[in-house]
Order: sequence, then structure tokens, then C-alpha cells
Amino acid sequence: MQTKVLPSTDLSEAISLLKEGAPVAFPTETVYGLGAPVFNEEAVLRVFSIKGRPLDNPLIVHIASEADLKTLAIDLPPVWEQLAKVFWPGPLTLVLRRSPRVPSLISAGLPTVAIRMPAHSVARRLIEAAGPLVAPSANLSGRPSPTRALDVLEDLGGRVSLIVDGGECAVGIESTVLSLVEPVPTLLRPGSIDQAALEEVLGSSITLPSAHTSVASPGMKYRHYAPRAQVRFVERLDELKGPFILSSVPVFGIATRLLKEQTLYAQLREADRLGVEEIEVFGFQQLSAALRDRLERAAHKEH
Ligand code: TXA
Ligand code: MG
Repeated sequence: MQTKVLPSTDLSEAISLLKEGAPVAFPTETVYGLGAPVFNEEAVLRVFSIKGRPLDNPLIVHIASEADLKTLAIDLPPVWEQLAKVFWPGPLTLVLRRSPRVPSLISAGLPTVAIRMPAHSVARRLIEAAGPLVAPSANLSGRPSPTRALDVLEDLGGRVSLIVDGGECAVGIESTVLSLVEPVPTLLRPGSIDQAALEEVLGSSITLPSAHTSVASPGMKYRHYAPRAQVRFVERLDELKGPFILSSVPVFGIATRLLKEQTLYAQLREADRLGVEEIEVFGFQQLSAALRDRLERAAHKEH
């Protein structure tokens, strides 16, 4: 299969493909997604197979309006509206009770469905034209998520017919995933919207990820975000060896790459392109919870 990369100025081909059930890769503000219409089960199956994704790892549904939400989820707890008012459109995914209309394939058989309203104008235009879309990150399963069209091409070239190029993603890491189906909202995946921001809007504490979340969020058990190089955490400056050092702070006299959510995945891919065997991480404790989470996952060869 030939893979086309088109600019986001004309979305007509992307919209026709989606309507025909052909998955299309497109930008969101977090990372690039591989989209397919929610109610087309064959197209959803293609998404799993293009990524090499196990069927027990559920997908996030992307919507463009609150009306969409009500066709996908049931028994909505009132707090969803408080959160949506502040964080939607944007990088927050809510796990809610799944409407029987939504194919269980999307949720790996769970009684829930994960939903987010992206802010990126390309994502929104595609959803408005083709309806709600499932969109996992547009990488091969187990590889770092893509934040540029070329990253998608590197992983999915020859496997997907169209990649819409919307430039670099502004956020750079995947959305925060918050479950609203437990009595207390539970953080399943940290992201750029952090615990403090969620608690401020809710006016109460949330539950943090723990051993039980691997059951609540099956996808999290897989090795994610992983470069081929081994990731090693270094605490002392004099233990740094180089040549590939990611640091939360600039270090005088040593060549490091500054760690930020926006560029982490591009840096992990760069390390692989350079063929380095080891990525050293300095200043881990100073990083955001989301960056610590992604780097810990990248460091573990098995999950
Ligand atoms: O920022 C994002 O969320 C990106 C962009 C493309 O929107 N998408 C993304 O999708 O990161 P993906 O498939 O790479 O990650 C989805 C994760 C799953 O691995 C799983 O942990 C969680 O979301 N998830 C999905 N449905 C769930 C459900 N019903 N219950 C609990 N967790 C769920
Ligand atoms: Mg992913």
C-alpha cells in the first residue's frame, strides 16, 4: 500500500477515506492518532491490525460536541460537566459507562468507554464530517507515540493510505485519562492536565494509579513509549557518561537535551535513529508526573 502524506489544508480525501472505513492518521494537540469511525467495526478492527495492537487494549473515542457524548455513554455522573466545561476541548479523556450502541470491540469488552474532545482543528473537522472516531496513537504498538507526520510515516508507512500532516503536536504526550465510574474519580494515565488541576475543578481528591488500575485500564499493562535503547536514571552528575543525555535542567559543561513533554517522544525516536544503546535521564524527580510515568514505562523492557 502506498502511503500519502497530505497537508491539512484540504481534508476532503481524508474524510472520504474515513467514511469508506479506511483508517487515516491525523494530528491532535497531544499526539497523532489513527482514526476510524466508531460504528464501523471492520474499520475499527483495521486500526488494531495496522498498529499490531492486542484486542484487549481499549481505544479512546474522539468527539466534537457534547451531543456526541450522550450517544456514546450512559449514566453520566454530574461531575463530567464540571470537567468538560474547563478542560474540553483539550487533552482530558473521561472513562464513562458505555452505551450498548457502542461496539464492545472498542472497549475490549469492558462495560465502559473512554471519550475525549480534542482541541486540534484538524481533528475536529474530521470528526464533524465523519462522526465520532476511535483514535489510538498512530504508532506501531510498543513504539513511542508520534508527534510529527514523519514519525507516523516511520511506523505506519505502507500500512495506512493517508497521513494528514498538521505539523508538530503542541502537547506532545497522550491525554490524561480519568475514570468517572468509580465512587471517587480515578486517574488512570497522568498527562499534561495534572492531579492538582483536576482536584481544583472537582473540589475534592482523586484516586491515583495503583496496582488495581492495571485491571481497570487493561492497556496500561503493555510496554509503552519504548525506544530500542535502554533508559537509565542517573542521580549524580559525575555518573553521566553520554552521549545521549536527557535532563530536566540545563547542566553546565555537559551536552544534554532538555526534557519537556512536547519533545520527549521525538527525542526517544532520535536516540533510536542515532543507534545509541543507552539513554541517560538526569533530574528525574524534578519532572512532571506525566513525564516520570512515560520515562518509567520507557525504561522497562517488559511490563
Ligand atoms: O492523547 C490521546 O489520548 C491520544 C490521541 C490520539 O488522542 N490517544 C491515545 O490513545 O493515547 P491510545 O490508544 O494510545 O491510549 C488509550 C489508552 C488505553 O491504553 C487504555 O489504557 C485507556 O486509554 N483506555 C481506553 N479505553 C478505556 C476504558 N474503557 N477503560 C479504561 N481505560 C481505557
Ligand atoms: Mg498509544
